[in-house]
Amino acid sequence: MSKARVLVLISGGGSNLQALIDASLKANSSFEISHVISNRPEAGGLLRATKASIAAEALDHKSFKERAFFEDALARRIDHVTPDLILCAGFMRIMSADFVNRYEGRMINIHPSLLPNFQGLNTHARALEAGVTLHGCSVHWVNADVDQGAIIGQACVPIFPGDTPEILASRVLVQEHRLYPLCVEAVASGRAKLIHGRTFLDGLQGGIALLDNS
Ligand code: GAR
Repeated sequence: MSKARVLVLISGGGSNLQALIDASLKANSSFEISHVISNRPEAGGLLRATKASIAAEALDHKSFKERAFFEDALARRIDHVTPDLILCAGFMRIMSADFVNRYEGRMINIHPSLLPNFQGLNTHARALEAGVTLHGCSVHWVNADVDQGAIIGQACVPIFPGDTPEILASRVLVQEHRLYPLCVEAVASGRAKLIHGRTFLDGLQGGIALLDNS
């Protein structure tokens, strides 16, 4: 069976992109990364893509007068590449409903919290502030409601007394790098599907659950 062609959207260092690249290079992988686009020209992830011989380009959102113009240009690039899946990996732009709806069922995001808790920014500081003792990350389908699409998988980590947002972020990131490739593999292989706004794994409603094994 041919591999799913994946386009990855990034904004920063791209450590999740790297985890996805590494997974895609495994012999039995169901997906290949054909293209990476960053909305920030200085994003370190672009170099990771180039090093892996993946087509990489910057589309600087700051060079567009309006968000709609940036989204039009991005959609044109995506539609030129015609990927099977679009993965947001630290892509820090909120996208309009029109843009997101165009790719419904094909666009996936990773978010650094156990959704539906702590949608939005500064998730680690907010988890510490809330006093929760379990935290983590979620991979979900992207829909028009920011950070609210159906969950494909989650990984959880403990919060220890004395943790700072930085310590917590690095503990969660280790799990992001495990979780995202597993979820993408499940979707690319056809095991995980979005049906009527819910995730089904092997035909049953539900997704992937990982516990921190450190
Ligand atoms: C990751 O922690 C990812 O979950 C988060 O940005 C970081 C990107 O790191 N994404 C969001 O906050 C999206 N709302 P990376 O560039 O090293 O993959």
